Amino acid sequence: MPGDIPAVSKVVERSLGENYAPSLYMTVHNLWPEGLLVLESESGIIGFVASVISGPKVARVLMLAVDPDHRGRSGGTMLMDALYSNCIARGLDTVVLEVRKSNARARSFYERRGFKVTGEIKCFYTNGEDADKMSRSLVN
Ligand SMILES: CC(C)(COP(=O)(O)OP(=O)(O)OC[C@H]1O[C@@H](n2cnc3c(N)ncnc32)[C@H](O)[C@@H]1OP(=O)(O)O)[C@@H](O)C(=O)NCCC(=O)NCCS
Repeated sequence: MPGDIPAVSKVVERSLGENYAPSLYMTVHNLWPEGLLVLESESGIIGFVASVISGPKVARVLMLAVDPDHRGRSGGTMLMDALYSNCIARGLDTVVLEVRKSNARARSFYERRGFKVTGEIKCFYTNGEDADKMSRSLVN
């Protein structure tokens, strides 16, 4: 993981407009290594998902991003499918996440993959924007 941080940071900066300290990725990785997955192409890392275990049977996605030049080619789907497998192997049965209310594309991406809005969090993001809370069961 440490060697992947520069490439992951680049994807995050290009996709989410955020520039996090490298230690953040190591902290998330150390909490649950199987919850942090990268997507690679011949040109290197082009996407990643970062998640933590946030309840006895719950995984929480903190970040999902695919580089803008590589979207629409199932990379996001593959990352989420791989995460579901790791959740099930770990005995988790639910995946939750937050998404910006303005992020219509991500929201429909999640809705088409079985996520439902379960609530909202006011002023969740640093710019004051609200988040929708979404959840998906991994059973039945
Ligand atoms: C959300 C995100 C991870 C999806 O990644 P992706 O690799 O494009 O995902 P996929 O290719 O598996 O699916 C993308 C869907 O958008 C559709 N799509 C159409 N045109 C597209 C385009 N130009 N670019 C991306 N997706 C497009 C795809 O057909 C697909 O539709 P489907 O849901 O009906 O299958 C990616 O858009 C992203 O990084 N967005 C910015 C960061 C973000 O919003 N993250 C989530 C925050 S909670």
